[in-house]
Amino acid sequence: SSVESGSVKWESPSNIALIKYWGKKENQIPENPSISFTLSNCKTITKLTYTKKETKDFSFDVYFEGKQNEAFKPKIQTFFERIEAYVPFLRDYHFKIETSNTFPHSSGIASSASGMSALALCLMSVEVDLGTDYTSEYFNKKASFLARLGSGSACRSIEGELVVWGQNESAESSDLYGIKFDGEVHSNFNNYQDTILLVDKGEKQVSSTVGHKLMYGHPFAQQRFAQAHENLAKLKAVLASGDLQSFVEIVESEALTLHAMMMTSMPYFILMKPNTLEIINKIWKHREENNSNVCFTLDAGANVHVLYPENEKESVLNFIKKELTVFCQNGHFITDVVGKGAQLI
Ligand code: PMV
Repeated sequence: SSVESGSVKWESPSNIALIKYWGKKENQIPENPSISFTLSNCKTITKLTYTKKETKDFSFDVYFEGKQNEAFKPKIQTFFERIEAYVPFLRDYHFKIETSNTFPHSSGIASSASGMSALALCLMSVEVDLGTDYTSEYFNKKASFLARLGSGSACRSIEGELVVWGQNESAESSDLYGIKFDGEVHSNFNNYQDTILLVDKGEKQVSSTVGHKLMYGHPFAQQRFAQAHENLAKLKAVLASGDLQSFVEIVESEALTLHAMMMTSMPYFILMKPNTLEIINKIWKHREENNSNVCFTLDAGANVHVLYPENEKESVLNFIKKELTVFCQNGHFITDVVGKGAQLI
């Protein structure tokens, strides 16, 4: 390309899976389908500045929250190697990657989904700057495809409000990229709330890369993968009917099953903390005593995502402040809501 330099900027959100992805094949192909809510407030903002160069190596600098950062470089190097075949200009430019998160660093909130999707979107915009014409549909598909190669769950952060990834019989889908859920969604799920309770901000002992690998030869792997298909079919019906009780049941079962897979791996491990269980028990009690539809889900960590419909916003937030923040590190929590996906800025 004759373009010498330029810059692009995207913001991309995190997402929280309702049906969990845990276990993958070669090339970041998931062993089972997953579906997630896209978030709004938890996001990464990335500016990518590109400058033409003569050498044929990968060349990039990373600035995280204003400071040059070496720690992210190996992950990005691996990402570049994986996507090189699909991004022909990758060796022709030097890239300055300036990135920041709206949530605190080392909050235990995985920034890989928002971070990798933001970077993938920036690279897509560079490709457009350099003269490639994409329909917005193809642009999103390819951005999600690239994001998947950075971090599997990142492919679900491009669009909102519900995104499916992984071949299945219930919804339009692909193993290669996330697709906006094409089924009917009841108004009960409009502006669904997610309050993230920061139970443990430390680095987790077992990375998701290692966790996925432990699903190879796992005694319950095949049943688990089959269950994800069944749960997706059930969830699809629930999303259409608005049956919140069944929603709660599927979502909590998925969270506990994810952690059950970790506990039954070899080697086995536990990512929940005592306060994770305290919070879960309080949520169950609150639900019973108040005829509430509040529920929890978990990522690969100790933090708890508290999910609830918009019409319970006031009462659940009161409950969280009164009874749950004592179990959070420094009382820290983040309120979020389902969102529409990444944005060019
Ligand atoms: O995207 P990864 O490889 O970090 O995997 C994350 C998997 C879970 O967050 C535990 C579940 C999911 O579907 O997001």
